[in-house]
Amino acid sequence: MKQGKFITLEGGEGVGKSTNLSFVKQLLETHKIDVITTREPGGTIIAEKIRQLLLDKGDEVVSEQTELLLMFAARAQHIQQVIQPALRQGKWVLCDRFTDATYAYQGGGRGMDVSVIAWLENHVQGGLRPHLTLLLDAPVEIGMERAQKRAELDRFESEKQHFFEQVRTAYLQRAASNPQQIKVIDASQSLPDVQAAISDSLQMLIKNNHA
Ligand code: TMP
Repeated sequence: MKQGKFITLEGGEGVGKSTNLSFVKQLLETHKIDVITTREPGGTIIAEKIRQLLLDKGDEVVSEQTELLLMFAARAQHIQQVIQPALRQGKWVLCDRFTDATYAYQGGGRGMDVSVIAWLENHVQGGLRPHLTLLLDAPVEIGMERAQKRAELDRFESEKQHFFEQVRTAYLQRAASNPQQIKVIDASQSLPDVQAAISDSLQMLIKNNHA
């Protein structure tokens, strides 16, 4: 059986990932592609518990090391339990965030050593990398304004503008050095324009699937 494709959606806070994740799912389904959606950190019972630890604003400060290792602990579980089995069954996996988020948030935002992230990536993922990453990009103020309208801000959403500027810069740098994998979508456009750009980026993968 042909392996499925692995697609990830990335971007800073409030760039419209949820809305566009549903859009991509529907688009793939109209092409008769069997697709599952999932998210990081999370996607399994254990990984969702780790997500809670990561997002909660408890009394104890979460160290940067702990944050990075928990991201990869959740990822290891998610890959083994959900992503790899689905891909092996020929399903496509559409994931809300993956390791590019670690490069952007822990590498860019927190300023952690990127070579350590790369080591963990190789160790935890082996050769698994997304076939395509849609990076929804918008100026930080736009995203933060949208995110702040939500009920309660989590530990990451509570960071300062400077942190998100660094996240955005790191994402854009990764896109510039991996243009084959990462497609930058201007998320400050109108929703129909954003979705037209997403459709364009997906055409090649969809065409190859039917070839
Ligand atoms: P979400 O709000 O998009 O569901 O993501 C949860 C938060 O986790 C988000 O603020 C980004 C952060 N995150 C990281 O810092 N590193 C990672 O590797 C991932 C997957 C998410």
